[in-house]
Amino acid sequence: MDEKTILIATNDEPFGEYLYHQLSDPGWAISRASVLSDLLRKVRAGGVDVLLLDSNIEEIPCYDLIALLKKNNSRLPIIAFSEDSSLETSKRVRHEGIFFLAMKPVDPEEIRTAVGDAIKMIRQQEQRRNRKMAKIIELRPAAEFDLSPVKEICKEHEGARGDLLIVLQKIQRIFGYVPKPTIEIVSQNLGVSTSEIFGVLTFYNRFHLSPRGKHTVRACRGTACHFKGAGEIIESIRKQLGLEKGDTTKDFLFSLEEVACLGACGIAPVMTIDEETFGHRTPGLALEAVARYQAAEKVAAAEAAQEKKAA
Ligand code: FES
Repeated sequence: MDEKTILIATNDEPFGEYLYHQLSDPGWAISRASVLSDLLRKVRAGGVDVLLLDSNIEEIPCYDLIALLKKNNSRLPIIAFSEDSSLETSKRVRHEGIFFLAMKPVDPEEIRTAVGDAIKMIRQQEQRRNRKMAKIIELRPAAEFDLSPVKEICKEHEGARGDLLIVLQKIQRIFGYVPKPTIEIVSQNLGVSTSEIFGVLTFYNRFHLSPRGKHTVRACRGTACHFKGAGEIIESIRKQLGLEKGDTTKDFLFSLEEVACLGACGIAPVMTIDEETFGHRTPGLALEAVARYQAAEKVAAAEAAQEKKAA
């Protein structure tokens, strides 16, 4: 798995040193910045995956600095440190869309967990991006599947029971989901029973057994979102998409997934559409976001129809 870079930005040398030692993990590369110009240069260069931002950088208020950094990289998860526990400050900092706000003196375990969650969120986003690429491949009914790439994949892993997850991932990358006709082929080649394969496919959320929509709407049902009205938001999205049963629209344009936590509890309730994150949702605001994508699809369909007519 690729290494993620964490940037510690503080001009408090001992504090930076402390964080540096607390975060030494084999999968994390740590970088440091103690002045604003260095911090901005590193963020702009795009090599930072998670930013740990102390409130004392060149005496710029933390919320202003966050706004400036977000302009350079709106998706960067920021874990901010503050000594000011006033509600007003924490409101303003949260409003700028930080990932986590930690009060000083920090609890190292809390920071490690926050960094781990941020990295988990990044990896999920990467997976979603990969799945989106896979979805470019047209979805077809089972009878029309070309199973030859599946056979090739299975041949490469013949007899390797331990490769089951890798094989299923590769198959999902081709079709956008794991079609049932492929399960028998995997079973025969890897020597794993079909019931075991179904068990794996249903255990991991990342696998799908039916075709997915072109756009994936993820609505969080985690604790923070739940207490801020996630249930009503999900209901309203279902209505808007016409999803009485199942989770994919008939035209295969949208799939709805309910997830345990999107890793952005600070801006709960949260939803995402493909790679876009929407925080502080109400049912009305959630519908606005979905409606925007629906409108874009309508425009694209009308343009395609016109082009076809003209051809
Ligand atoms: S509970 Fe964490 S983002 Fe919803």
